[in-house]
Amino acid sequence: MTETTLIAAARAAALKAYAPYSNFSVGCAIESVDGQIVTGANMENACYRLGVCAEISALTAAQAAFGLGNIARIAVAGGDGSGAELAGASSVTPCGGCRQSILEAAQLGDRDIDIICASGDGRQVERHRIADLIPHGFGPASLKDAGDARG
Ligand code: THU
Repeated sequence: MTETTLIAAARAAALKAYAPYSNFSVGCAIESVDGQIVTGANMENACYRLGVCAEISALTAAQAAFGLGNIARIAVAGGDGSGAELAGASSVTPCGGCRQSILEAAQLGDRDIDIICASGDGRQVERHRIADLIPHGFGPASLKDAGDARG
């Protein structure tokens, strides 16, 4: 799958967002190491703090489809989803909470994950790796010195 196709999948997924409070539609497409694709979109709630980001929605689908440990690449795009196509000029990077969840997948699979951050119109693109987006992060590997809770 080309980067352009993965961005197109994220942009298309954003049109399925439920974002009546922010009016900011985000889509996420996740590619597995063997080329499978799953997508997700943000889903807001009248109780604002219960909203779910597009990345979390897509990570849940990835776990169901091929396992969190098998993620190779993630594309995110966000903007105005009110038209026939997602619009917006500025690239969208994952929020802090989503970075933490992507770090979990990266450490589980023992591989860095490429993150393609696109604007709503798909024209502005930034490329990052999760290790750069959340440096010195706390993940499953950080728990190696935990004690035995069984007593
Ligand atoms: N949002 C995402 O879905 N992913 C991010 O990484 C940033 C923010 C959503 C949450 C909320 O529904 C809307 O964008 C505005 O913050």
